[in-house]
Amino acid sequence: MRKIAIINQKGGVGKTTTVLNIAHALALQGKRILVLDMDPQAHLTAGLNVNPRDCTGLDAALLDGESLKAHMLEVRNNLFLVPAGVRLCDVEILGAAEGRGERLRASLLPEQDWDFILIDSPPSAGMLVMNSLYAVDEILIPVSADYFGLQGVSYLMSTLKNFEDKLGHTLQHRFVVTRFHRRRTLGKEVLEKLQAYFPHAVLQTVIRELAALAVSPGFGQTIFEYDASCPAAKDYATLAEDIVQDRTKP
Ligand SMILES: Nc1ncnc2c1ncn2[C@@H]1O[C@H](COP(=O)(O)OP(=O)(O)O)[C@@H](O)[C@H]1O
Ligand SMILES: [Mg+2]
Repeated sequence: MRKIAIINQKGGVGKTTTVLNIAHALALQGKRILVLDMDPQAHLTAGLNVNPRDCTGLDAALLDGESLKAHMLEVRNNLFLVPAGVRLCDVEILGAAEGRGERLRASLLPEQDWDFILIDSPPSAGMLVMNSLYAVDEILIPVSADYFGLQGVSYLMSTLKNFEDKLGHTLQHRFVVTRFHRRRTLGKEVLEKLQAYFPHAVLQTVIRELAALAVSPGFGQTIFEYDASCPAAKDYATLAEDIVQDRTKP
């Protein structure tokens, strides 16, 4: 079982899009996938066509100690979701109480045989993200291929380093470049710099900026349901394979 948190305190870099589509790509391969929507905005929940206003989920697990299992919804074949829940934002307000991270970690221990557990995160570096980091062994950082894309990365890495020092061990980290425009040199620069700073940690596949990825969540569809033969579906299917095989750029 692999447990991966998708994090970046910058919004709009493609965290939720990446969780949605790699989760479904892996589920379509027959792997058993659990996704957790750790963002109070609940875009992952909505993107999987579940009405966020109707459900409890991680809020009840983190605030009331309820079991995750009680809140799992089978949203596709082989793909299960624990929704955000309307009270999830209270976790940030209430702060670092009662070992919520440890509780989350404990509740992810394999009572069910998941191949992958993927956690979507809010665009912050607060308590919700810290709780996710407790529960996982790996992190995946989407970096958007634009001017500000790289700016938050060094801050993120130092936050992460502080967390790992407290934790006493490191988390494997990988990067994926998202929202890439082939005709813009800026995107290539972001990719080259990221590779130079983090050799062997940038996944091989680059996710292009493609309209289908922006449109499909509005239909409650993953890219594979919206149009399985489109270039965006190819990008995310290949990225999912990179993750399975840990294929990185040199
Ligand atoms: N590769 C892409 N091409 C086109 N639109 C994208 C792409 N990735 C994300 N988007 C769109 O950009 C917006 C932000 O993406 P999202 O995944 O929600 O980012 P985050 O979760 O990091 O805030 C969404 O409207 C999403 O549909
Ligand atoms: Mg998001």
